[in-house]
Amino acid sequence: MASFFEKQTINKSNLLTRRSALNAIGAGVTASICSSFLTSNALATSNIPFGVAVHLDPFRNEPIFRELLKQHAGLIVPMNALKWASLRHTEGKFDFGGSDEIINFAEVNNKPIHGHALLWYDANPSWIDAVTSPPLLEKLLIEHIETVVGRYAGRIATWDVVNEVVAHDPLTQGKWRKGVWHNILGPRHVEIAFAAAAKADPTCRLFINDYDLEDDSLRTEARQRAILQIVRRLQKKNIPIHGVGLQAHLYAERRTGRDNLIKFVRELKSLGLEVAVTELDVIDWKLSADPKVRDRAVVATVREFLDAITDAGSVRNITTWGLSDKHSWIKDVFPRSDSAKARPLPFDDQWQKKPLFDLIKKYTK
Ligand code: XIL
Repeated sequence: MASFFEKQTINKSNLLTRRSALNAIGAGVTASICSSFLTSNALATSNIPFGVAVHLDPFRNEPIFRELLKQHAGLIVPMNALKWASLRHTEGKFDFGGSDEIINFAEVNNKPIHGHALLWYDANPSWIDAVTSPPLLEKLLIEHIETVVGRYAGRIATWDVVNEVVAHDPLTQGKWRKGVWHNILGPRHVEIAFAAAAKADPTCRLFINDYDLEDDSLRTEARQRAILQIVRRLQKKNIPIHGVGLQAHLYAERRTGRDNLIKFVRELKSLGLEVAVTELDVIDWKLSADPKVRDRAVVATVREFLDAITDAGSVRNITTWGLSDKHSWIKDVFPRSDSAKARPLPFDDQWQKKPLFDLIKKYTK
């Protein structure tokens, strides 16, 4: 079956759900928070920051999510609120409502913030996908980055400047991801984006972020080579880049290519870059339904990956793509053939800790 990444279609209504924050908060206050959730077993102050990507809907509507973020998150990532589709419904206007909510919460609770993402082939408003003039698209990209990075300058510590710019399979598709940015601007789109971000906030750490970088298939090796080429090219042109984000949407049925991953991470480090784990979760669609069996397999998959990453050197942070299985994208995008619910994240759909939480605790402490 073709993976999500080959045939990615996003239900944009997911990204665009906007409810009055006040209504949502009002509803949330009435929900009681069970004190057993609030244990002293907190991760928020771990040595390696534990990052959590925050989806607006549960953030607004489920107080337990905010409590768990306060307790455990050492880094907050707005999951969708900083994407073009959320910020740029119409060309003339920026809508910072959702991103401000999450970022204000992070600041009030002293959590560093990672921005995601300034350029992606997906989650674009249709008006940007329709631009065909290179000078116009370049102008719009620079304006967008200046405005968004500028607004949060000194507040967002790290940014995914470009997301998924490498083709799913560079061996058969060429190096670059097809999409408006590459189609209209060519390979320069990456340089334009990094230069604009560096100018808008010279103190910010700038990342390139991508998926499928952890096994040792020929396809993955080609993807790793493409990332290294992009990094070297930026460095040759004196355009700042500080890190590479490994999304780490891991498949329970795939093995980490340990030696290959260690070599890749060390190569990045030898170029002076940091490495972060940015979107960790486990795709459990092929595993048997038994939750215990799946939780064990999820832990084994993540352990193998984090062992390799940490053996290769220091990791800037370990971020999971959400906190609870209840709101994970995995169930929608990698559906199981039975009726069992996906279990990709550290908390289950009742907001109870799973073995993956304890594992992450070990690697972040
Ligand atoms: C996903 C979100 O989790 C969903 O809520 C949204 O509907 C689609 O995007 N790689 C990325 C993320 O870089 O931005 C994607 O997030 C998952 C894949």
